[in-house]
Amino acid sequence: MRILNPGQTALKTQVLPSGEAAVAAAALWLAEGGLVAFPTETVYGLGADAADPAAIARLYEAKGRPSFNPLIATVGDLEAAQRLGRFSAQAVALARAFWPGPLTLVLPKTADCPVAELATAGLDTVAIRVPSHPVARAILRAFGGPVVAPSANLSGHVSPTTAAHVESDLAGRIDLIVDAGPVEVGVESTIVGCLNAPMLLRPGGVPREAIERVLGQALRQPPAEADGDTAQPLAPGMLASHYAPRSKVRLNAERIEAGEALLGFGPALPPGAERATAAMNLSARGDLNEAAAHLFGYLRALDAKQARTIAVMPIPNEGLGEAINDRLRRAAVGRQ
Ligand code: TXA
Ligand code: MG
Repeated sequence: MRILNPGQTALKTQVLPSGEAAVAAAALWLAEGGLVAFPTETVYGLGADAADPAAIARLYEAKGRPSFNPLIATVGDLEAAQRLGRFSAQAVALARAFWPGPLTLVLPKTADCPVAELATAGLDTVAIRVPSHPVARAILRAFGGPVVAPSANLSGHVSPTTAAHVESDLAGRIDLIVDAGPVEVGVESTIVGCLNAPMLLRPGGVPREAIERVLGQALRQPPAEADGDTAQPLAPGMLASHYAPRSKVRLNAERIEAGEALLGFGPALPPGAERATAAMNLSARGDLNEAAAHLFGYLRALDAKQARTIAVMPIPNEGLGEAINDRLRRAAVGRQ
């Protein structure tokens, strides 16, 4: 077995059920430069004090994340967000419409932005989010400052939607996990760049259509070459292989081949489904929100069955389907 960071596997990771004691412990660990995994409505995040470069260095190490990949700063409300980033009128409109909730805005940094350079990877922009999960909000309130919170998984793994997922990736590498059960949304926040014309940097928990309704205009698309593993990406964490399980992933499967596991969607299963080595259905009633909530957990579960290939049925590209298809395409690229 390869040990990634022998120094960090020695930590004793405490797991506490959400509640007042867990929130107090989380705030204390954050103030001491510790690493705390906590639930947000999208996925579990790995929190560290956004203003503490040493804590952020530990966070990158714990995740095994390339340090050119900047982090999202989470805060409690728009007023706190305005201390970090410079909001255009359109950014304010999006914040008013969707915060608290699964939307991240990328904005120019304020002159006295307290977020450490290491967290923004030296960029002059900052990604900001106001989560709606009551436990995330309680921790932010108790800590009192911005908290960087990337998804609480090892770099290259799918994002965790339960505390058990966090534990299996990060036990021994972080200080505390606050367990509040499975998350509600299941895919990460939508990231919109508000530098000039608003641009969809990552599809996610707020559907594109809802954002475009508020803006009264279409979101711009990042240039295609920004999406590859070699180009300099606009949302740098969106490496093509960011979300890859160990099994191969085959998309838009219209029939199941021998030796494949099936990840289904909707009531009608494809020919060959009966010979799948394992089968899970993201939403038997064809509900995209339910499918998003199940996506990462089911990918982990099927991956654990060590099928050669996970065959995924076609998923409509509307609403949360855009984020689901984005994550599935990245899973299909394979791990590097
Ligand atoms: O739902 C979410 O957003 C979750 C929960 C835990 O809050 N967090 C999350 O963080 O997905 P992470 O670190 O896994 O993804 C953050 C994404 C990365 O793709 C990163 O490159 C991008 O945000 N990002 C951060 N700062 C950026 C910036 N200044 N400009 C462009 N992209 C940025
Ligand atoms: Mg992530």
